[in-house]
Parts: sequence; C-alpha cells; structure tokens
Amino acid sequence: MLTDIKKLKFYDTIIGTLGNTPLVKLNKITRGFKGHYFVKVESFNPGGSVKDRIGLDIVEEAEREGRLRPGGTIVEATSGNTGLGLAIVAAIKGYKCIFTMPDKMSIEKIRLLKAFGAEVIVTPTAVPHDSPESYTEVAKRIVRETPNSILANQYFNPKNPESHYKTTGPEIWEQTGGQIDYFICGVGTGGTISGAGKFLKEKNPNVKVIGIDPKGSILREYFYTKKYSHVLKTYKVEGIGQDWLPATLNFDVIDDMIEATDKESFLMARRLTREEGIFVGGSAGTAMAGALKCADRMKDNDIMVILLPDTGERYLSKVFNDDWMRENGFLIPDRITVKYVLQSKSKNVPQLVAIDPTTTVRKALDLMKENDIAQLPVLDKGKPVGTVDDNDLMSAVLDDHTKFDSPVKEMMKPGFSVIGSASPIEHAIDYLKRRDSAVLIEEDHKIIGILTRYDVIEYMAR
Ligand SMILES: Cc1ncc(COP(=O)(O)O)c(C=O)c1O
Repeated sequence: MLTDIKKLKFYDTIIGTLGNTPLVKLNKITRGFKGHYFVKVESFNPGGSVKDRIGLDIVEEAEREGRLRPGGTIVEATSGNTGLGLAIVAAIKGYKCIFTMPDKMSIEKIRLLKAFGAEVIVTPTAVPHDSPESYTEVAKRIVRETPNSILANQYFNPKNPESHYKTTGPEIWEQTGGQIDYFICGVGTGGTISGAGKFLKEKNPNVKVIGIDPKGSILREYFYTKKYSHVLKTYKVEGIGQDWLPATLNFDVIDDMIEATDKESFLMARRLTREEGIFVGGSAGTAMAGALKCADRMKDNDIMVILLPDTGERYLSKVFNDDWMRENGFLIPDRITVKYVLQSKSKNVPQLVAIDPTTTVRKALDLMKENDIAQLPVLDKGKPVGTVDDNDLMSAVLDDHTKFDSPVKEMMKPGFSVIGSASPIEHAIDYLKRRDSAVLIEEDHKIIGILTRYDVIEYMAR
C-alpha cells in the first residue's frame, strides 16, 4: 500500500535510466599488454546504444525554440541507433517519427525502429552523401514537405557533441577517478569523441584521445592530410566512418586516428562477446581492434578506456551469423579446407545433387536442367559408383529415344574422386587441374557435397 512515495525507488520514465553506463575491466583480450584496460559499455542505455544520449537534448532544444510543437514529427537520417534514441523520446512525448536509413544497415535495426512506431524509409548506401537519393538528403526533403517537423540533424546539431560533453566525458572522468590516460572511440558523426574528448582534455590535457576509423572511410586520411579522395563507402561496419566531414566532428581534440578493417572489427566484436561476455556490435569491435593497435604505447600503470557503442543483438543476422561472416570472407580460417569452400557455396546452389543407378535418363536430364549442371554423381546406397554427363545422355536419346526410360547405370562413366572434408582446398585443386571436373567430399563415411571446377573458381574469384 502506498503510504510514502519517497520510499519508492523508480524513474519517472525510461529516459531516467539514460547514461551512467558501467565501466568494465577487460580480463582476457588485453592479457599480456602493459597497462589497465576498461570498456564503457553503452548497451546499458535504454535503447541499447551510446546514441540514446543525444535524443533527449535534441528534442528538448527544438521544443524550447518552438520548432517542435505537440503532434509534431521528428525526422532523422540515421544508421539506426540515433533513430532509436529519438524514438524513445518521441514515444514518451507523443511525437511521430520518420527515419531514413541506408540499405546496408541490419534488418534488426529497421525492425527495432518500427517496433517503436517509427516510419522507416530505406535509401541506397552506394551514393554520395549529397546525392538527392542519399539518406541525409531524403530526410531533408521529408522535413520540407512535413509541417511541424524537425530534422534532428545529428551531423550538424551542436547538441550532439554537447550531450557527450555533459554526460559521457564526466562519467568516464569520474569512473576512472581522473586517472585516464587514453580514450579510444569510433567516429561516426564524431559527437561522442568530440564531446567526451573535449571534456577529458579540459580536465587533463595529457589524456590522449584516439579515434578509430573503419578502412574505407575518409576520416583518418583527412586527419593527416587535410584532404580526402572522394570514395563511396564500401565497408560493412555500421555507424562509423564517413565519405565526408560532419560538422559535429572536432579534430582539435583528437591526437591520433587509427584504422581497422571490417574483418578485424567483426572478429573482435565476437571475441569481446565470447571471451569477456560483453555482447557488442561491429563498431565496438572496430574500437577494440584499434585499441590493441595502440596498446604498445601504454606504460605499466596507464589506464585506457575504450567506448563500446552498442549491443550485439542488433547484428545477430550479420556479425553473429556464421553464414553471413563466411559469405563476406570474414571467417576465413588459416587453413582453407574443402568443407569451408563447400559451405561458402552460394545459398542457391545445393551442396550435393546426386542420383542412384536406377534413376531414368529422363529424370537425370530434368535434374540437370533444374540445377543448371552438366554432370551428376551416381551414388548406390550413398557410395559413389559413377557419373553421368549431359552430353552422353543427350547423344544416347538422340540416337534412340526409348533410352529416355533406361536407367542411368547403362551410361555411367567412372565416378569422381572422393576427398575428406578436412583436406586442404589445394588437394581438391590438384584433382580439378588434372582431369576431374568435380570432386566429391566425404565426411564420416558419407558423401556430403560436391565441388566443381566452377565452385572453386568462383570461391577464388571472391
Ligand atoms: C553503432 C554505432 N557506433 C558508433 C557510432 C558513432 O558515434 P558518433 O556518431 O557519436 O561518432 C554510431 C553512431 O551512429 C553508431 O550507430
């Protein structure tokens, strides 16, 4: 029974849980490196990312200035996380949301935004940022066409870095007892690094602020050369890197920029999850991979803080999906086995199409046509006994059309070579180079797949 409201411990709204995210010590990934390593785990924010921090400030500023009135619409170009931060504020305050998102972003993020009632417009990724089709330009057009709407404008809005100056920076300073030496952070709009970095440098100019940039972005190049070549983003990590310079990025507080590849980022996100139990997204992997690249600068008592922007849950279909990782070449093992190449075959190509010796020629030709293949292995109770090829079968029926209903065993040639699934791919290539147009792959005494010359060449080309 409620007798004293003061005894209740609660937040008025979920926004009260924003910020004050935990600082967690790393125990395994940095083993063997000098110094002490801590991560700022931003997935503890109500929307699961560092970008929650900017949503409230941006909306309240627009309300104060009278740009956003009851019943209004919040529009933003977002890689997903800023949208979610804004969608939470909009849900509580009763605004409508329309978000534009490049098509490289994960399906989880689109679903998340829709779960909050937002309208999501997906735009092409591979266009320059100033193209009328780009997510930023489409968002601007929607604002022009929608009365009582604002563009949250994270790439230009000074509220973005200010929020981090007000919250992220002071939290890190407080949590390290003012002893931080290195702050490592990925750069998207640059809001986090510019705001938190400014605060930390004001407290202690010796704190080194290091930005991590995905390979394919222009930010690192610009930092060093003050120039950039106009490139289209081709990397897969989400939320960081640019093909232009956002106004919210302040290079003055950054001491160094380090590059990390998609592969380094994603493998590191998986290590943070599996070795430290911290479930994070790809850009957290970029930050951590970059952190290890500058760990040789650390002295025994130095403290490094690495900011991990969001949760891995929104990348279950990508970074944490082995098929996606393999298809994109991010899971290439040191020794490439035939099984690995078999699993990398495109999803539309079956791992094995085979027939038994009693299959009719008609059925065999149908199967070849259906699967667009010229040869079929013949298996008797799972054991390879021969092969048939379309040329032989067609010549036979052209000669004598009753052969359509004959069993293929009458026209079989010797079978393909069989190799073990753990054999190196070079072993398969030796066969394919010499005479065989395909090899069968065996595992636990069972044929599990076929690799044709075409499959291997396609793999090599990728
Ligand atoms: C997953 C992710 N990581 C990192 C960032 C970069 O943060 P900032 O825009 O503050 O540079 C973002 C920004 O959207 C993001 O979505």
